[in-house]
Amino acid sequence: MLPTVAREGDALVMIDQRKLPTKEIYVRCRTAAEVARAIRTMVVRGAPAIGVAAAMGIALGMRASKATGTQKFAAEFYKTCELMAATRPTAVNLFWAIDRMKRSFTAAAEAGESVDQIKDRLDREAQAIHDEDVASCRAMGAYGADVVPAGARILTHCNAGALATAGYGTALGVIRGAVAQGKRVTVVADETRPFLQGARLTAWELVRDGIQTTVITDNMAGALMGQGQIDLVVVGADRIAANGDTANKIGTYALAVLAREHHIPFYVAAPLSTVDLTTPDGQHIPIEERKAREVTHFGGNQLTPAGALVWNPAFDVTPHRFIAGIITERGICRPPYTESLKRAFDTEAAIPS
Ligand code: MRU
Repeated sequence: MLPTVAREGDALVMIDQRKLPTKEIYVRCRTAAEVARAIRTMVVRGAPAIGVAAAMGIALGMRASKATGTQKFAAEFYKTCELMAATRPTAVNLFWAIDRMKRSFTAAAEAGESVDQIKDRLDREAQAIHDEDVASCRAMGAYGADVVPAGARILTHCNAGALATAGYGTALGVIRGAVAQGKRVTVVADETRPFLQGARLTAWELVRDGIQTTVITDNMAGALMGQGQIDLVVVGADRIAANGDTANKIGTYALAVLAREHHIPFYVAAPLSTVDLTTPDGQHIPIEERKAREVTHFGGNQLTPAGALVWNPAFDVTPHRFIAGIITERGICRPPYTESLKRAFDTEAAIPS
């Protein structure tokens, strides 16, 4: 399995996702500030992966703290949490992971633990967030495989794979789950302008797995659906509101509308750490806007005339009515999502299908 983010002693090691697929380079972050920069600059990206990186970055930063008293240590801890929270605004997994680290810190402080004991506890919590993410992805893969017909031609957008999680993936986890069940599937990967997560990362992962993958530019999906060549669409998510509205990589909304027009089931695969019940609907999800240069330039070459304006939102929101089901680690939530998502949180057990 690909090591997206791993702790190695006094460093957090990440595969540099900006360089793939042509270069396999690992970045070693030695401070919390370096981890925050790695998240901001997309060395590591994908909603669950940035949550895991932030939690591990907080633990790494606090391990290096010179504070001897708990008060000074606490002040440093909350500052480090703020640093991580300021990296990217849309993926709720980031804030979910930081909240978990804060709850762990509070429990340690309430138990009267020493600074060294708190450091150990933070390390354990961050590693647990990492390991639980892999387990969630595997569970999603097993549940999601049921909606994948044998021989399915599956369209996916962006990268919701091992690289976007602690391992295995959400949407790609579903594809891997289907393959593990012996289903022969083929994948169509949207290029995903402007950062090219589909062309570079999804295709790289799937080719390594020996799963037949065809890369298309984003504007080709409609034509392919119109020719009857897509059986299923599965994507990941950055934040799912209480009513099921789903923020994911820009272009996802257009795919969902196309899928509806062509009677193709459109599924979202995401762990419950991506579900934000405090956000009532998609209108309340903050959407990150990125630098114009990602659109105006390609590989260092300018594409657009000076003076042209650019709009570069990193995500869009797919209204819940286009989504056939949300595949989680506790089973598949079906409409009405306001009820099924809440139920998924309320039970430790799997959701009955
Ligand atoms: O800007 P990115 O690359 O972080 O965006 C990633 C996505 O939109 C993914 O589809 C989403 O985070 C799900 S990852 C399992």
